[in-house]
Amino acid sequence: MKIEREKVPHLLKLIWQRRSIRRFSEQPVDREAILLCLEAARWAPSAENVQPWRFLVIDDPPIKQKFAEAVFSGIYFPSRFAQQAPVLILVLAELDILANRIGKQIQGVAYYLLDIGMAGEHLVLQAEELGLSTCWIGWFNLKKARKFFAIPRKYKIISLLALGYAAKRPPRSPQKRSLSEIAWFNEMGKSCPEISDFELNFHPDDSLQAKAKSNGQEKIND
Ligand SMILES: Cc1cc2nc3c(=O)[nH]c(=O)nc-3n(C[C@H](O)[C@H](O)[C@H](O)COP(=O)(O)O)c2cc1C
Repeated sequence: MKIEREKVPHLLKLIWQRRSIRRFSEQPVDREAILLCLEAARWAPSAENVQPWRFLVIDDPPIKQKFAEAVFSGIYFPSRFAQQAPVLILVLAELDILANRIGKQIQGVAYYLLDIGMAGEHLVLQAEELGLSTCWIGWFNLKKARKFFAIPRKYKIISLLALGYAAKRPPRSPQKRSLSEIAWFNEMGKSCPEISDFELNFHPDDSLQAKAKSNGQEKIND
């Protein structure tokens, strides 16, 4: 199956371009851009349409500084890089919604996590389209985060998102599993003949490098 590079859909190009960014410039992010990202999150699908996501945006520099000192201390020090990002977003789930509890009990699936992952990724991709960069951060002190903002127990803290303009981008695509490893057709473990051609034609490295260059960003190793 021959797929022409010019026909790569815009969304797929954005998805290829997105990387977890761990070096941010000091350039602030205006509220309008933040709101566009949150608006993208708001339109995510969710089980029973319960929309369990809540976002606590931290864009006031002194508050962000104090928060970062609290949540990235001790064993969480490796996440300190996120302090440079002009915006941190605490991603919360509101748990006192019946549908979430039933889903977990009957199906054994915590659908709210799925919902929140989707909303978060909408946010991330909208940010990418606006020329912003992001990094999901799970490694931070949850107890201190709760205490810092006096977050009531009915909200579960799921993750943090760092948001800002990239100062440096990693030089290479991250190692991603191949399509044939992750996708099967009509039978467990069964590939389809089009996959190998598809993979040969669709390697995103060149476009990523070109994009990084055109942004004038330095390249770094992760
Ligand atoms: C739920 C979640 C939590 C993550 N937590 C961290 C983290 O605490 N620190 C970090 O540097 N990266 C974190 N990451 C980023 C991953 O390391 C990254 O997505 C992965 O290495 C693939 O790289 P890519 O995002 O550039 O494709 C997290 C990603 C996700 C989805």
